Amino acid sequence: MADDNLKGQRVLLCVGGGIAAYKALELVRRLREAGAQVQVAMTAGAQHFVTPLSFQALSGSPTRTTLWDSAAEASMGHIELARWADRILIAPATADLLAKLAHGFADDLVTTLCLATTAPITVAPAMNHRMWGHPATQANIATLRARGVQVIGPEDGPLAEGESGPGRLSEPGAIVAALSPQAESAVAIDQALKGLKVVVSAGPTYEDLDPVRYLGNRSSGKMGFAVADSARRRGAEVVLIAGPVHLATPAGVKRVDVRSAAQMREAVFAAFPADIYIGAAAVADYTPRAPAANKIKKSNESLALDLVRTPDILSEVAAQTQGLKLVVGFAAETENVAGYARGKLVAKHLDLIVANRVGVADGGFESDQNAMTAYWQDGERVFNPGAKTRLADDLIELIVERLNA
Ligand code: C5P
Repeated sequence: MADDNLKGQRVLLCVGGGIAAYKALELVRRLREAGAQVQVAMTAGAQHFVTPLSFQALSGSPTRTTLWDSAAEASMGHIELARWADRILIAPATADLLAKLAHGFADDLVTTLCLATTAPITVAPAMNHRMWGHPATQANIATLRARGVQVIGPEDGPLAEGESGPGRLSEPGAIVAALSPQAESAVAIDQALKGLKVVVSAGPTYEDLDPVRYLGNRSSGKMGFAVADSARRRGAEVVLIAGPVHLATPAGVKRVDVRSAAQMREAVFAAFPADIYIGAAAVADYTPRAPAANKIKKSNESLALDLVRTPDILSEVAAQTQGLKLVVGFAAETENVAGYARGKLVAKHLDLIVANRVGVADGGFESDQNAMTAYWQDGERVFNPGAKTRLADDLIELIVERLNA
């Protein structure tokens, strides 16, 4: 990356009230090194963590802290400041700030600036991992994304309160890199799926044994939901067939909830015709031959379940290629990942298969993180490990490439 990738850019850095505010100091230095002019606005909360004077020393401009500072307003009014900015970067973006932005609040300087600007807005969230994972925060992020807000991070790792999970502010260097015009060229693929219909399956299926028990699996649905969101942001019409999961529906996506493999199959085919099918669901391979009408009572020492194969939805979809331009499968494996994935690519007649190793710490089914490799007939791509949201963007980018190949 060139040192001056933000040369001439006027960046308004809005600092939210979280412990990661101290990293925003480094961010100012990095932004200026990259050639940007920087002005800083802080929320009241941010000022409990870092002083305005620290930012002033690093940015070379007075730090703005309130709407009600007549001296500051006299030299540059807040509307003028909102207009001055070529772009607004909010780092750290707290859960509260994201909620306010999503709902258009303007009850302090930072939120007012964000509402008054027409400049692109980038948020770098940082918070406790449970706050990040909360459906309210995820819905707010989806709203902001749908509105064109760029989201950087958060990263997974140790958090200030001694816990670990997704919630760390991305490193200042990574944030500055993501702001660069080269990174922005990635935005050019944003509408690359416009006019196309994408059907995504996600989550586990539950196969009922009796009225109270079922056979299920540990799929969280996070990857499929992230893929659906990513495809939607690139302009596709997206139908998301979701097994039983606790996840917010990505903005603009049509969601159909199902429970069993048979229901998933029916919903998938009902959603066709489509241009792209992405089978990210962990579909049960077996289902009880006949679920018991009443609760199965314990009697003998052992119990044998009579299971039959479920329909292989992905194979069936790939076999009826009518109108489909690309069929993508997933392979969660515990060993010999490449071998098994390539085997499925051929056996199921897929255009692309995305493999990841499960049963390892920090990745796979229940994690927000993943490490994936995609295979197609004469190629493969290893994705940089990271958040499922970022990997979903990378996968959609590859799908766009394969469509045009
Ligand atoms: O063979 P395996 O189950 O590992 O293949 C995984 C891929 O096949 C996933 O994309 C999954 O969504 C799909 N699949 C399916 N129907 C099944 C089993 C798997 O669509 N019954």
